[in-house]
Amino acid sequence: MKSINVLYVIIFLAIGILSVSFATQGNSYYALGSLSSDGSSESFDKMMSVLMHKRCVNCHPAGDIPLQGEDSHLHNFNISRGKDDHGLSGYQCGTCHQKENNNYSGVPGAPEWALAPLEMAWEGKTRVEIATQMMDPTRNGNRSHDEILKHLTEHKLVLWAWDPGVDAEGTPREKPPVPKMEYIAAVKQWIADGAIIPEN
Ligand code: HEC
Ligand code: HEC
Repeated sequence: MKSINVLYVIIFLAIGILSVSFATQGNSYYALGSLSSDGSSESFDKMMSVLMHKRCVNCHPAGDIPLQGEDSHLHNFNISRGKDDHGLSGYQCGTCHQKENNNYSGVPGAPEWALAPLEMAWEGKTRVEIATQMMDPTRNGNRSHDEILKHLTEHKLVLWAWDPGVDAEGTPREKPPVPKMEYIAAVKQWIADGAIIPEN
């Protein structure tokens, strides 16, 4: 009789432990997989605070002229995107912009320096508009989620924003508001969660 009671206790405990572990798994799945109950997403907030920063937007302008500096004024020297976003013939971006910052002249630099094409313009748009077009293959250079993830976390022009050098006056350019590793983690989290764009 006694041993049967012990058996019941053991079965009871086992069921208890199993259901607790299922429940917590369920919770962490929900926490990962969707927006918070108020419709917000911390990883989206962090990522977008970087994308909306002038270090990105200066190169993703709505017009044909790159923007410069903390006040995003039009680029000096009559620079224009030209036919291929690399500048006018004979006056290409690479004439001045090298693969690295030149902190003597104040010319910023990174490999493949060019203007983002017009369909990738971010200037003047809301964060929801930017995120929507960034995930739209007809407007993002036909990139999949994985390719956008790679571009956002590995591309030299993107990462330049955390090593932006100094301007022509020798003043250090402002970095994006979120540290680089924290930004990379937020992008990965947001895409792993299904790249859900909140309503605003
Ligand atoms: C005649 C040389 C020259 C050419 C050609 C040139 N740039 Fe620049 N660019 C500069 C200089 C100098 C600065 C730095 C100005 C400063 O910050 O004081 C600069 C700054 C910039 C910045 C500002 C970065 C920031 O966030 O403040 C961007 C963006 C930029 N250039 C993009 C381009 C693009 C794209 C092209 C080609 C379409 C181009 N530039 C062609 C000289 C040039
Ligand atoms: C020096 C100019 C420059 C700077 C600075 C720059 N970009 Fe771009 N960006 C480009 C160019 C050029 C392309 C198009 C490249 C291509 O399609 O291969 C591009 C394309 C992109 C794309 C893919 C297309 C899209 O819009 O969905 C993303 C994402 C992107 N940039 C993110 C960023 C972020 C984030 C920053 C700032 C942290 C940034 N860029 C800063 C020039 C720049």
